[in-house]
Amino acid sequence: MAGIDYTSLIPNNVALHENRRLQRALEDWQPKFLDWWQDMGPTGFQAKEIYLRTAVSVDAKGWAHFGYVRMPEYRWGIFLAEPEAGRQVNFGDHKGQPAWQEVPGEYRGTLRRLIVTQGDTEPASVEQQCHLGRTCPSLYDLRNLFQVNVEEGRHLWAMVYLLDAHFGRDGREESEALLQRRSGNADKPRILGAFNEPTPDWLSFFMFCFFTDRDGKYQLASLAESGFDPLSQTCRFMLTEEAHHMFVGEAGIMRIVQRACELMREHKTDDLRPHGGIDLRLIQKYLNFHCSVSLDLFGSEISTNAANFYTTGLKGRFEETKKDDDHQLKDAAYTVAGLDGERITVREEGALVSLNERLRDDYVADCARGVARWNEVIRKHGIDVELTLPHRAFHRAIGIFSEVRVSPDGRVISQAEWDARHGDWLPNEDDKAYIQSLMHPVTEPGKFANWIAPPPRGINGQPVDFEYVRLG
Ligand SMILES: [Fe+2]
Ligand SMILES: [Fe+2]
Repeated sequence: MAGIDYTSLIPNNVALHENRRLQRALEDWQPKFLDWWQDMGPTGFQAKEIYLRTAVSVDAKGWAHFGYVRMPEYRWGIFLAEPEAGRQVNFGDHKGQPAWQEVPGEYRGTLRRLIVTQGDTEPASVEQQCHLGRTCPSLYDLRNLFQVNVEEGRHLWAMVYLLDAHFGRDGREESEALLQRRSGNADKPRILGAFNEPTPDWLSFFMFCFFTDRDGKYQLASLAESGFDPLSQTCRFMLTEEAHHMFVGEAGIMRIVQRACELMREHKTDDLRPHGGIDLRLIQKYLNFHCSVSLDLFGSEISTNAANFYTTGLKGRFEETKKDDDHQLKDAAYTVAGLDGERITVREEGALVSLNERLRDDYVADCARGVARWNEVIRKHGIDVELTLPHRAFHRAIGIFSEVRVSPDGRVISQAEWDARHGDWLPNEDDKAYIQSLMHPVTEPGKFANWIAPPPRGINGQPVDFEYVRLG
């Protein structure tokens, strides 16, 4: 498996032409996907030429080709990472057995649910972001938004391929349903909460890419450990693309932070509203919101589902094969945050039922590294402010902490204190209106909105003032 077949209707490196039934199922789904893309994809830019990367191989070096393409003509396809010869199930009860090339019958329902839940997030984020193009802070950012969008579309293809290839009729029904749910729709919402929140502005978009796409990274990395080999190969290649989405988020926030610092020094104030900037306090509020809703995506602290996914070999830990233990965890313990009346404490739990919390820990550590890089920018400007991750118990809707009110620094507080103060911690109506007031399109090549600094370099070696989107 090396090159990608671009001559067929659906680009792929899975020898689709050798499986007529599957090819027909996917060719039947393709026009429905395109209808969905026209309906729910980026509003107002479907006919424009965008400077996008397209996967042309799954080789770690040089897997992408860059060029102008209209989004509906993007070559969405099915690309799996190279198979690993002699790969085994690396954890759980089946540890040491050859990895499965077909779905084990007894895990069919569970595996389908895992794939559908992952797959559902991909079109959801495209739907959440569909209006952002109209208020882009630059052509560079507009292009990055669309790059993320088309790749989320490809991630949907990746999951639909698994459903159609391995789950027969049920799989095909799930593939259709993935195009029918809608982010934020009361009757047919997307499966996970964070994917029903609106992404109404670019500050939210960058936060979403940083925090919520990063949840995606950790879920994909755990699924890449799966004993079901096609899922592993699919997720490994998705991770290659996912890295860019997190770059968009981290670099986007970094540029907003940098611009805030510049305006603070220029005007000798930390209130940047009179100067059209986004001040650090407001950035912190958006950070608090997006971090907390993304923490919910990892699920309950104690979860027998998570334990089952692991013991059955379907979903591993982050970097499972790099860990040096028995990979079965039956007698192992793990330290989990919990509640003791009004106090937040930690306690030992069985490692298997704590796997959600362990993945959340890996995620929080990764988020903290990004926040430290933002703080480095602030420090270099000689400003004595630090952005911080909110306590994991803050503003939670899932898990043990959903039962209490907690401040960002981790104090359990009364409902009255929450009511009085949550507008200081999370974006309030006034904040949202202010951010919205900044959202005016800037579309001249090389120009940037006043609230965000230009990037240090362009995409794929192009200059920053390159015409990343041809609007003419
Ligand atoms: Fe994705
Ligand atoms: Fe993503």
